[in-house]
Amino acid sequence: MTGVAAVLAEELRTWLGQWVADDTPLKRVLTAQRWAVRAYFEARYLVPDPWRLRTSPYELQRAADTLEFLEGRRYRRALEVGCGEGTFTVQLLGLCDRVVAVDFSRGALRRARRRLAGEPRVELRALDVVCEDPGGGFDLVVCAELFYYMSRAQLEAVARRVVRWLNLGGDLCLVHGTSSHDAAPEFSGEGRGREMGARQIHGLFCRMAELALVRDRLLPRYRLTLLRRRGDPNG
Ligand SMILES: C[S@@+](CC[C@H](N)C(=O)[O-])C[C@H]1O[C@@H](n2cnc3c(N)ncnc32)[C@H](O)[C@@H]1O
Repeated sequence: MTGVAAVLAEELRTWLGQWVADDTPLKRVLTAQRWAVRAYFEARYLVPDPWRLRTSPYELQRAADTLEFLEGRRYRRALEVGCGEGTFTVQLLGLCDRVVAVDFSRGALRRARRRLAGEPRVELRALDVVCEDPGGGFDLVVCAELFYYMSRAQLEAVARRVVRWLNLGGDLCLVHGTSSHDAAPEFSGEGRGREMGARQIHGLFCRMAELALVRDRLLPRYRLTLLRRRGDPNG
């Protein structure tokens, strides 16, 4: 009986894992609600390292490219939005004196806390950036693989707030996939809000008057963009 239950549990886990990994229309309907978006991510974090950030050659390369992209400036206080289990947070510490790392998934943050235990330079916070602010005073904000699960209106509102989290002269680093979603047509209105990739997301930030483009790197599967908040930090 225990064996049957174990098999059934494993089947269920596999089915759930596949379902949450697929970009199905049903999933997109469910994730239109805030609670459902959070539940979706909590479900993904039932399995450790759901995006295989620590093992997939693609993800390891993406992290290495991001670090290289950021090289050349030492940051005093950085914000990582959507830090997950803290995998990239650890690497970001090499470029920053202090990092505030936020995520709305409690499951992910539990693992991040374990990973970063004893690291006094990192502060982990549970926060949904669609409706909460992490405060300001950052000279780097990193948003990687983050903005897909927002409507166009939410993305525009969050983008306006992200800029205010940055100090004048502070940098915003964006990293998003170019593969599947960029094949979709450009947004023509609220209804198309969920078909988002780097073209739409990075394009929106690049058009903001408060931000100046520092560098932009388009790779076959993802795009890296570094923008700087305009204004004289000493002015
Ligand atoms: C696809 S994972 C990317 C993780 C990491 N940033 C990376 O690039 O590998 C997206 C992460 O963002 C978090 N997330 C998504 N929307 C969020 C929001 N509105 N506020 C805070 N965290 C969010 C998820 O819980 C998840 O950990």
